[in-house]
Amino acid sequence: MKQDELKKLVGYKAVDWIHDGMIVGLGTGSTVKYMINALARKIKNEHLNITGVVTSNQTANQARLLGIKLKSVDAVDHIDLTIDGADEISSDYQGIKGGGAALLFEKIVATNSKKNIWIVDQSKLVDQLGAFPLPVEVIPYGSRQLFSSFKAKGFHPEFRITTMGEKRKTDSGNFIIDLHLGKISKPEKMATYLKSQVGVVEHGLFLNTVNTVVAGYDDGPRVFE
Ligand code: 5RP
Repeated sequence: MKQDELKKLVGYKAVDWIHDGMIVGLGTGSTVKYMINALARKIKNEHLNITGVVTSNQTANQARLLGIKLKSVDAVDHIDLTIDGADEISSDYQGIKGGGAALLFEKIVATNSKKNIWIVDQSKLVDQLGAFPLPVEVIPYGSRQLFSSFKAKGFHPEFRITTMGEKRKTDSGNFIIDLHLGKISKPEKMATYLKSQVGVVEHGLFLNTVNTVVAGYDDGPRVFE
């Protein structure tokens, strides 16, 4: 199966975890897009009362178009479950996210969720994190200084650039610096370091976050909990 078909497979499978009355965090990305389509169908067919909490403008636009009821993360007292994609998941279930530049809101929603499910095609499962560039969301003011300090540390930083050749802005108006690390042997240490840098808003290491991974393989979805 092609990668996109595997994403569809797990996107459709993920709605099995969604039940009537739930407040559901809606992640961001191409895999989540399939899940949201399936969720809209499920809500309609089964007459469910579901509230979505979005992690990006992109997801909000799709969910609104499909008629899914939405609330802000600050307007709910809990989130039952968040379903999101991921860019890499290591064998000990740590993750890199932010390929779609939505890491900040994704982390806020994930942190406030009782349960987190990641839906990925099998290519995202790796032994060790780091082949995927680690996204770091930074405040524009002073971002060149941060860039230089990442460079001096040997992190091979790169500002994320749009197709128009401009620095990519997140939904919060920040920049993304992608770190080309190759391997992250100590994710906790890296996370602590990044969090301590003035001007860093958030980074794409999602550690001890996920409860369930649904991975798409040629013979069907496999669930790891
Ligand atoms: C967005 C993300 C996405 O969940 C991640 O990039 C996976 O995306 P896709 O499902 O398109 O492969 O973290 O910030």
